[in-house]
Order: sequence, then C-alpha cells, then structure tokens
Amino acid sequence: MCGIAGFFGHQVCEDILINFLEKLEYRGYDSSGIAVKNKNNINLVKGTYKINELKEVVKTKTTNSCGIAHTRWATHGKANKDNSHPHYSANKVWFAVHNGIIENYASLKNKLINCNIKFSSETDSEVIPQLLEYNNVKNIYEFIDTINMLKGAYAICAFNNFDNSLYLAKYKNPLYIAEFNNEFFIASDPICFNEITKNYYTLNDNEFCIVSDNKLCFYNNKHKKINKKQNLLNSKYLKCSKENYSTFMEKEINEIPKVLKNILTEYKKNNYFEHITSDFLDVKRVVIIGCGTAYHSGLIGAKYLESVLNIPISVELASEFLCGNPIINNTTSYIFVSQSGETADTINALNLVKNKCKNTIAITNVTYSTIAQNVDIVLPVFAGPEIAVASTKAYNAQLLVFYLFSEYLKNFKLETKFFNKINGEIKKINIATLYHFDKLTKIISNFDSLFILGKFKDYFTALEASLKIREITYSNCSALPCGELKHGTLALVSNKTTCIIISTNKLLHSKTISAINEIKARLGKIVLVTNSVESFKDCSLIDYLIKLPNVDENLIDLVSVIPFQLFALQLSLTKKINPDKPRNLAKSVTVE
Ligand code: G6P
Repeated sequence: MCGIAGFFGHQVCEDILINFLEKLEYRGYDSSGIAVKNKNNINLVKGTYKINELKEVVKTKTTNSCGIAHTRWATHGKANKDNSHPHYSANKVWFAVHNGIIENYASLKNKLINCNIKFSSETDSEVIPQLLEYNNVKNIYEFIDTINMLKGAYAICAFNNFDNSLYLAKYKNPLYIAEFNNEFFIASDPICFNEITKNYYTLNDNEFCIVSDNKLCFYNNKHKKINKKQNLLNSKYLKCSKENYSTFMEKEINEIPKVLKNILTEYKKNNYFEHITSDFLDVKRVVIIGCGTAYHSGLIGAKYLESVLNIPISVELASEFLCGNPIINNTTSYIFVSQSGETADTINALNLVKNKCKNTIAITNVTYSTIAQNVDIVLPVFAGPEIAVASTKAYNAQLLVFYLFSEYLKNFKLETKFFNKINGEIKKINIATLYHFDKLTKIISNFDSLFILGKFKDYFTALEASLKIREITYSNCSALPCGELKHGTLALVSNKTTCIIISTNKLLHSKTISAINEIKARLGKIVLVTNSVESFKDCSLIDYLIKLPNVDENLIDLVSVIPFQLFALQLSLTKKINPDKPRNLAKSVTVE
C-alpha cells in the first residue's frame, strides 16, 4: 500500500526514483508520480500510471539534484491524476509524498480553505504541502512544528522550491534512509537499497530528518538533534526476480520446499527460541493476533501450541481485537503473525498490549519491520521477499515456525535428529504433483457456489484456501467446518454445487464421510483432498480425488493448502487476472 521513494545525489534522479518505485510495486497501487528539482524548475509527472508507463512519460534526466516519487493506493478520493502524489501547495512552494492517513485533515483543510487556499485534490495528503506553505516553513524546526500538527499516521518526504533539501518525517508508517558515495536514498522498504548499500537508517516514530549539502541530520519532535546507528540489511534472502516464472505468485508457490528447508537450516544454525524460557510457560493464556493469511496460520499455530502448552490459546483478527476493551494483563503472552510486519491493524494491536502483558513475540518474514522492531522476541520465517499480493510461501513458512516453536517448548531444545526428520518429510513435497487445475475445472462447473470444507485444522486450511480463491479469481468461495453444513449451508447444495473437502486427520475421516453423504444426497459434486486414500476406498461418492503426499501428520497442514494455492493461481490466469496484483488489494495494508 503506497510507496515512497526519495533521492538526493549526482546520478540521474528520475532513473533512481523509478527503479525504487518498481521495487515498491509489490505493495499495491493504482497511481504513481514523481517530482524532481531542476535548478529553479520542478518537473512533476503523475497520474494513474503503472510504473512502466510512468517510465515512458517521464522525459527528463536530471543530475545533481533531488526528487521524490510515490505509488498511491487510493483511500481518500478515487485513483486519478489530481489525487495521485506528489502533492503541492497552492503556490507550488512545497511538494510532498505521503503514506498513511491524516486523521485531522478535514479540520486543517477547512481552516486553509477559509483562508482562500485552493486545493486541487480530494486527498488527506494534500493538506501537508498546503500547511507547510501556509505556515511559511523555512527550515527543519518549522517543518517539525508543522508536522507535529498532524494527527494520524504518516511517512513524509517533501521538498520546496527555495532550498536544496529533502525533509522527512515518520509516524506509524515506515521510512528508511541510506547513504552511499555522498548520495542519499529514501524508501518505504530498505529492499530498494539492496544493490546500492547494505547499511541504512530506520526513521523511528516522531523522528525527522533533513538531507542537504551532502549530509543527513536527524531530529526528534522537540527539535533536538539525535545520533542514529545504521542497520545492516541481510541480503541473503532478498533476491526478488520472477526468474523463469510468468508470475511472482507461481514462483513463490514453487519456492515453498526451498523456504521450508531454509527455515530448518537457519533454526538449526541459530537458536531463535533461546529467549523463550520456561518463564514463557508461566502464563495463563496465549493470544495470537494477525490479519488475512497470517490470521489463518495463527489458527493452525494455536493448535500446535495448544498440544504442548495445556493453557488456553485464542486467535484474534487484529482489526477485531482493537474493538471493545480486550483484557490485557501480565499473565498473557501475545504472538503477532505478519508476513510484512507492517500491517497497521496488527501494529495497533501490538501497541495496545505492549508493556502491559508478559511478553510479545513476532512471527514475521521481515525482520527490520515495525512489528519486528517492537516485540520482545522475533521468530523469522526466512521466506524471502513475497511480492505477489496473495500470500503463499510465507503462510507455509509461518506454519513451520509455529510447529518448531511447539516442539521446542517440549524440552526447550531441538535436536539435530529432529531437524533431519523434518527435512526428510519436506523432501516428499513435490509441487509439480499438486497441480490439478485442468481436471478440477471439468468437475467444477458453477463457481457461484463453491464451498471448501474441513474439520479441525483442515477447516482453517479451508479458510485460507477460500481466501486465495476470492483474492485472485474474484469468485465467491466460502469455507465452513463439515459439521456446520447441516446448520444452514446445506440449503444451497444442489447439482450445481461443488464442495471440496479436506480430510487429513485419521480420527476424523468418518465424520468427513458423513459430510460427503449429506452433499451427495443433494446431488452436489465432491472433490476430496486427502493424504489417506485408503480410508476412503469404500466411498464411491467422490467425483475427484486430490492425493496429498504422505508426510508426517503434524506437517500435513503445510502441504494440504498447496493444491488450493495452485488452483487459485491457475483460475486467476485463465480469467486473465494478474494474480500478482489483484484489483482493490494491497500487499502491505498500512492503513486501519
Ligand atoms: C493484506 C494482504 C494479505 C495478507 C494480509 C496480512 O491483506 O493482501 O495477503 O495476508 O494483508 O498481511 P501481513 O503482512 O500482516 O501478513
């Protein structure tokens, strides 16, 4: 969701900024723009451009200068030229790009309109350059004072027409700065700096920075200069090309076995659980919090942990957790699951419990993210950059980390023997054998009523599977527990209905067979996804069978979702949808 890029240096400014925007495309956007200072002129290009289109329309090549650029995911006002960033003030004194939401923009805007200031967009963001001009901001101190007037969330990169500087501010939305060869690079994700330098600064909440005359100066919101240490980008897992795949999503699904192996290698090498001592068990409750796919992995993770912890574990959607008055006390541990580590709802949930609970843990793919920086313990998932909006490999990776975590809690160690065993199981996963699209489409005739069913953890897999289908195929698909069919949804089952049933738990196969009978009695079609074909050999009611490899029952959840990830991908491609960038969705949802 929205991406910021900034550059100050001698190279061609437009080239650097567009290259950064390309790297930020994964976040999701519907318009883009760039503004570059060229002596006393400012070259501004913006509109509902994809980055490759922006590249075509930006004609200037400016050296020894500075500039700002942005990808916008519409929140306030539709996606059009006026609403895209950079925004500028009425007399074109200040130009700014912004991520986040300015909650008090309406009152600020009204005040400025009452002073006859003309606005040219419907956005909350435009209030930033307008206010900077109105307040006659001339230096970093006045910039800080003006930004302090904003409420909400922001990462801001701004410049003006009178000095040669970039002005940065950050609150609740990420912003990173790198310095190399007397040039300065700014981005919403340090992944942009990877080919330039591994060192970068993280701007923290309520911190400001001014980039000018070959130097960086950092300030807090009280005008005090601060010294900041650089962070080191771990580039081992940062490669992000499509390789020979036509989409990132297909590449990312095919990477699952490799990612799972990476996790085993990294966790064998370093004990990421070392700070989780018996003290962790000295709690009355564990709460797992996430959104979307991360929430689904939390649901399964809770079952792994529950099997060893013997205490109640609840799983909460971050956006729902923030409603009402959740009970927070120091006898509860919180686990935050987030691929990006930047999801606003999950961050807000973390901020709510922080310092009031026993401890906070993050299971995340991005170890430099806001969530990772703000919890007590980070459990990385080593999935490498996940570019496709719909999360796939990060989900399988989160499940493996949850599983390792639960095994670790048994004796507070993980033996080499255990790692070798899991490695052996992972070797059984062959993605090529899990593509079933062609045969499945012959069975599934009516997508308006596609149901995915399961019991216990298989129900959670069904939730994730149906989310994948909705996200990237724009088809309605619901998930429900097998036992709930008869409590309402059976009314929808007819000869036009397909039910895909996941059954991976030996103890529950007989219940699955009951559901199959209920559906078949209403002429619905049945697709069964199982690792235990034997248990269903007497059941003649199955229209199509997806056989899962025979992996350890604890790891089957990492595999049973894969045919659905592939099915959603192929259906999306058949419908001429770009699965990497589905409409209306963003990879990193940085607004509430
Ligand atoms: C967005 C993405 C989903 C993702 C969710 C949570 O909605 O489109 O794919 O599951 O955010 O993201 P997180 O980065 O916190 O796991």
